[in-house]
Parts: sequence; structure tokens; C-alpha cells
Amino acid sequence: MVALDYKQITRAYAILSPMYDLLFERVFHPGRVAAVQLLDVKPNDIVLEVGIGTGLNLPLYPQDCHLVGIDLSRPMLSKAEEKVRDYGMTNVTIKEMDASKLEFPDAHFDHVLATYVISAVPEPVQVLQEIKRVCKKKGHIVILNHFKSENPVVGTMEELIAPLCTRLGFKTDLRLMPVLKAAQLIPEQLHRVNMLNGWRLVRCLNE
Ligand SMILES: C[S@@+](CC[C@H](N)C(=O)[O-])C[C@H]1O[C@@H](n2cnc3c(N)ncnc32)[C@H](O)[C@@H]1O
Repeated sequence: MVALDYKQITRAYAILSPMYDLLFERVFHPGRVAAVQLLDVKPNDIVLEVGIGTGLNLPLYPQDCHLVGIDLSRPMLSKAEEKVRDYGMTNVTIKEMDASKLEFPDAHFDHVLATYVISAVPEPVQVLQEIKRVCKKKGHIVILNHFKSENPVVGTMEELIAPLCTRLGFKTDLRLMPVLKAAQLIPEQLHRVNMLNGWRLVRCLNE
């Protein structure tokens, strides 16, 4: 698997941040809606969104939850902060933080969401382990991402383009089940979403 490092990520998302919404808002919207619904947020729940980016999921959350959004990229977070101000959201806290070293106590959040993030971090297993640690027992961990295809032809193409894609800030050759297994997460629900059903939406119950 091709490695992705912190320098590549900070550089890629600094460049992408001004055009991120234009490129990715519409095309990934169906998956976002399904992912937030799958979180099944109840009034006053505390939710963590890991790798919140420019905050495209913000309008999808119920207004009566408490949301904490973290990301490594300052330029991406500035866009999320703008949305929080524009939407007049008083229930949202945005923090610059590395998802592989979450600065929260164990079992702090009711639910955790990561959309289009797990293939964009240098250490996906460590990030999932951290998500599991900060989520309460029986909380929902929802992951939405593209993973390497099980179709051998498509999978080989994804391996071939992986070196280029890491320069753009994401991996194309990350496999779903091995990464979940390594983090000791068991999928409770698995769906296919977005264009050509090419993205996987996974809900794990934090056991
Ligand atoms: C493809 S973007 C997805 C953004 C957002 N979740 C969305 O749905 O549009 C990936 C995000 O992950 C963030 N990221 C990458 N590695 C990270 C890490 N170790 N900790 C926190 N955020 C990270 C990037 O800065 C970027 O904002």
C-alpha cells in the first residue's frame, strides 16, 4: 500500500481548501446525508466529526446536538469556521487536532463520524483506534469512504493510480475489512453510496 505522510496532507489540503466545496459538495452529497442519518443523533448527544474539513456536513446535523469538529488542516478549518458563523451555529466547536492523537478523554462522545477521511490520513488504523477510544460504549461510529475495489481489474487500476492520488491527499488502495479488523471494529451496517455505488458507508457499534 502506498504511504501518505503529514507533509503531503497539509500541502494538499492547503491547496485544495479554496476549491474543495466546488469540487466535492454535490458529488459526495448523497453519501453525507446517509452518513449523518446513520449516526442516529438524539437531542443533546455529543458528536465528534473527525477530519471535518470545510464543514460540508454541518447543515445536516440536528440543531439540538453538540458537535465537535477536528481537522489537521488550518485552511480547511477556516472554511468550516466561516460556515459555523454564516449558519449562526452555537452548538459547534471547531479544533485543530491530529485524529491519530485525539485530545479527548475515553468514552467522551455519544457518536463519531468520519466522512471521506480514513483514506486521507497517514495512519488509518491508529485513527480508528482513537475514534473507538473516545466513543462511548454502544455509540455509533460511522465511516464513509472509498475503499479499494474487490474487483481485480478495478483494484489493480486503483493500485496504479495510488502514487498520484497520495500527492492529492488521499489513498485509493486502502482495503475496508483489514483496516476495520486491525482497529477491532465490527461493522453492524454496510451500505454502498454515491456515484456507481463506489463509496462504502459503514456503521459500527462501539462494543
Ligand atoms: C477529503 S477531506 C474530507 C473532509 C470532510 N470530512 C468532508 O466530508 O468533506 C479529508 C480531510 O481529512 C483531514 N485529515 C487528514 N489527516 C488528518 C489527521 N491525521 N487528523 C485530522 N484530520 C486529518 C484533511 O485535512 C482533510 O480536511
